Amino acid sequence: MVFSHISRLLSQPMVQNLSREALLKLDPEIAHRLTINAIKLGAVAPEELADPSFFETEIAGLTLKNPIGMAAGFDKNAEVPNQLCDIGFGFAEVGTLTPRAQEGNAKPRLFRVPEKQGVINRMGFNNEGHAAAYDRLTNKKQVGSTIGVNVGANKDSSDFVADYVEGVRLFAPVADYLTVNISSPNTPGLRDLQSGEALKRLLGEALHARAQASVRVPVFLKLAPDLDEKQMDEIVGVIKSVDLDGLIISNTTLGREQIAGSEHVDEAGGLSGKPLFNFSTQRLAQMRMRVGNDMPIIGVGGVHNAKSAIAKFAAGANAIQLYSALVFGGMEMLRDIKDGMAQKVRQDRLKNVSELTSTDVEGWATGKAHI
Ligand code: FNR
Repeated sequence: MVFSHISRLLSQPMVQNLSREALLKLDPEIAHRLTINAIKLGAVAPEELADPSFFETEIAGLTLKNPIGMAAGFDKNAEVPNQLCDIGFGFAEVGTLTPRAQEGNAKPRLFRVPEKQGVINRMGFNNEGHAAAYDRLTNKKQVGSTIGVNVGANKDSSDFVADYVEGVRLFAPVADYLTVNISSPNTPGLRDLQSGEALKRLLGEALHARAQASVRVPVFLKLAPDLDEKQMDEIVGVIKSVDLDGLIISNTTLGREQIAGSEHVDEAGGLSGKPLFNFSTQRLAQMRMRVGNDMPIIGVGGVHNAKSAIAKFAAGANAIQLYSALVFGGMEMLRDIKDGMAQKVRQDRLKNVSELTSTDVEGWATGKAHI
C-alpha cells in the first residue's frame, strides 16, 4: 500500500519504524489497517505535482483529473477517499457497502502470494454498513475528488435486490458514481445475479431507484472475470436494454492456474494482482467488442506498472483502477504508472490520454496480446 512514504510516516508514533518490508511481514489485515490509519492521520503527503492537462478525461459524464483510480475494497468504509485523491488517484471507489454492518468471514481471510505478486481474499464484505459511510460522505466531499460508492448485499439478506436498491437510493445524492457489485466470489449466490433474468430484475430496480433520486448519478456494473462467451452475451443482451452508464471489468478470479504451486493456492476466495492481469484484460477486451466503443469501461485487475496500465487502455478501458499491486509496490507505483503513461502520450504525440483506449481490442480479445 502506501509504504513508500515511510519518511513522512516516521513522525506518527503509531506507525513508527514501519517500512514496507516490515509491513509485508505483518498480518495483511493489520498492515492494511495501519495504512488506512496513516493516510487518515495525514502521514502520507499529498501529490505536489499537478497532473498534466492531457490526463484529464471524461467517463460517463464525469471529469477525472487522471484516469487511474483506487479500486473498491481498499477503503471499504469511506474513511479516506479525499486523501486518496490528494495522494494522486484520479478517483477513489469506496465500499463494498451493505445496508447493515457485517463482520465478514472468519480470519485469516486475506493472503499474499508474494512470489507472484498476487493476493487471495475471502473478506466477505466486512463493512460498517450504509449509515456509517453515509455520515462520512455527507458534505465531506472536496473539490477535485471523484468518489464512487460501490454497493452490495448483506450475506443473510432475504432479498439481495432490495439491498442494492437501498444502496442506490441512499448514496445517489453523495456519490459521483455508483457501482453495482455482483461479482464478489465471497458472498454465496451473489454472482448468480450476473445471469439474464436475475440481472434484468436487479438493474431494472436499481436504475429505477436512481431515476427517482434528485441528481442523475452514473451507475456502473462490476463483473467477474470468470464468464464464458455465452454468459457475456447474456449480460450484454440485458445491459443494452437498460440505461446503464458503464462497466467495471473485473473483480477477482476463482482461477488458480497462474499461482500453481504457491503456498496459499488452495485458500478459498478471489485471486487478484499480477496473476489476474492477462485473464481480466482479455475479458475486458471481449466485452469491449460486444458493447462497442460508446459504453464506458473501467478496467481493473492486475495493473502493476506503466506497461500493464497502458495495455489495459489498449484492450478497451476508458479508465483503470488498481489495488493489489500497491501491497507489494507501495504508493510510488502510482507515480511510476503516471510517469510511464505521460511518457507514452508525449512519445506518441497524443493530445489526450483517452487516445490510448481501444488500440488493440482484437489482440487482447483473442489472446494474441498478453504481458
Ligand atoms: C477486493 N475487491 C473488491 N471489489 C469490490 O467490488 N468490492 C469489495 O469489497 C472488494 N474487496 C476487496 C478486498 C481485497 C482485499 C482485494 C484484494 C480486492 C476487488 C478489487 O476491487 C479489484 O476488482 C480486484 O482486486 C482486481 O484488481 P487488482 O487488485 O488486481 O488491482
